[in-house]
Amino acid sequence: MTSLSAPVTSKPSPIDLLLKHDKPVPRYTSYPTAAAFEPMGWQEMADQLARPSAHPLSLYVHVPFCRHACWYCGCNRVTTQLGSKVVGPYLEALTKELELVTASMPQRRRLSQLHWGGGTPNYLNAAEQTLLWETISKHFDADADLEASIEVNPEFVDRPQAFGLRQLGFNRISFGIQDADPTVQKAVNRVVPVDQLRRVMGWLREAEFKSVNVDLICGLPLQTPERFRKTLDLVRELRPDRISLFSFAYLPEQLPLQRKIAADDLPSPRERLAMLEEANQLLTANGYEAIGMDHYAQVGESLAIAARQGSLHRNFQGYTTGGELELLGVGPTAISQFTHLFAQNQRDLKAYYRCLEMGHLPTERGLMVRDPDVLERRSLIQAVMCRFKVEVEIARFQEEWEDLKSLAADGLVTLDEHQGQGSARVTTEGRWLLRTIAAVFDPQQRQRASGSRLL
Ligand SMILES: C[S@@+](CC[C@H](N)C(=O)[O-])C[C@H]1O[C@@H](n2cnc3c(N)ncnc32)[C@H](O)[C@@H]1O
Ligand code: SF4
Repeated sequence: MTSLSAPVTSKPSPIDLLLKHDKPVPRYTSYPTAAAFEPMGWQEMADQLARPSAHPLSLYVHVPFCRHACWYCGCNRVTTQLGSKVVGPYLEALTKELELVTASMPQRRRLSQLHWGGGTPNYLNAAEQTLLWETISKHFDADADLEASIEVNPEFVDRPQAFGLRQLGFNRISFGIQDADPTVQKAVNRVVPVDQLRRVMGWLREAEFKSVNVDLICGLPLQTPERFRKTLDLVRELRPDRISLFSFAYLPEQLPLQRKIAADDLPSPRERLAMLEEANQLLTANGYEAIGMDHYAQVGESLAIAARQGSLHRNFQGYTTGGELELLGVGPTAISQFTHLFAQNQRDLKAYYRCLEMGHLPTERGLMVRDPDVLERRSLIQAVMCRFKVEVEIARFQEEWEDLKSLAADGLVTLDEHQGQGSARVTTEGRWLLRTIAAVFDPQQRQRASGSRLL
């Protein structure tokens, strides 16, 4: 007897589809991205600051110092044990920069957001933190509902520090867990015992921070689904308001310290995806909403509400609720972001000091963005990254529409066409590759893929 069998058309598995589309892409915290910045003098920034504006600002203050270097870290930082010996001159420089910035402004501006990032802002001792806060207060008026946030390394947080930061005026705080497993922690030179992480969360809750965020990294060396599960169990126990779940950006050619991490020790793409998916399932089953590509927020938290209402925004600090606020960055490498101008400060600390000694703003690179095509692409990329759907006139974006069709064939987006208007909506599977979908509207990425992969 012969059996008639239909030809077997094997459907690619979700992981195969993700691997197929997972290429190096930017994180799209801006468009154009910082990679497109060109050398730029301080005058453009001074001209921008001189424009009258009644709108409040978001102020980013970079604190570059760390006591030791975590090998995975891609942030701009300076490792030093010198403490106040380096912090003293640094605070003087920041004071000078703030004076130059506000002297360029025709009126006193309000702040609706303030963020201290790093590096490690809690490298500063209590007196230094107070001095920096007071310096900022001298130059800006704080909105009554100012969102003031700070990034801290939990290794150096104690109870007085938690209360001190809250009393100063911070109402949001973020600390890195990365991975709670001792083997993984040792493999990346970042050892913070679980008991300390528990104590830190206890103090932050006791001090009544409105929102506590933790950072996790998926894809670290020696991380396995079993080990990562323990980290997720800890996170469920700590119940932060927000979670940033980053995919490890391993770029040893650009980041020399990452060369201490052997590529062979990294989990495979399949393991990495398994960990990301398990995290997604666990968190969404435990009262968190997935926001964008790498954030989770408790249902009812402001980021989750903004995501639902379509008012989520993205800037150099990641996802925010602050709408189209102008972003002013101070400190080395800090980026200021206005509708038509990006300006980035000197990367090198000595060069940053030199500019201020010479009495001018420390701008090193930047970009003026006036081209309407670029501005339109910016809003399309923002729509994908923040609202997870995008609408275009197909005749004007034919190539992009074709690319979206091939992503749709693999289930990453769903498409609708109506009278020449096309709309693409990111599917649950597609959320993992949000950046790849956004990159459809980025002509530079069509020429040459650059950035980091998900897996
Ligand atoms: C500027 S760091 C500040 C954190 C703070 N200094 C600490 O140590 O907890 C911000 C976060 O970026 C993430 N990060 C740093 N390097 C990364 C990389 N190569 N890939 C993915 N995430 C990274 C980490 O989760 C880290 O907590
Ligand atoms: S993760 Fe934090 S403490 Fe570690 S090197 Fe990076 S900025 Fe410094």
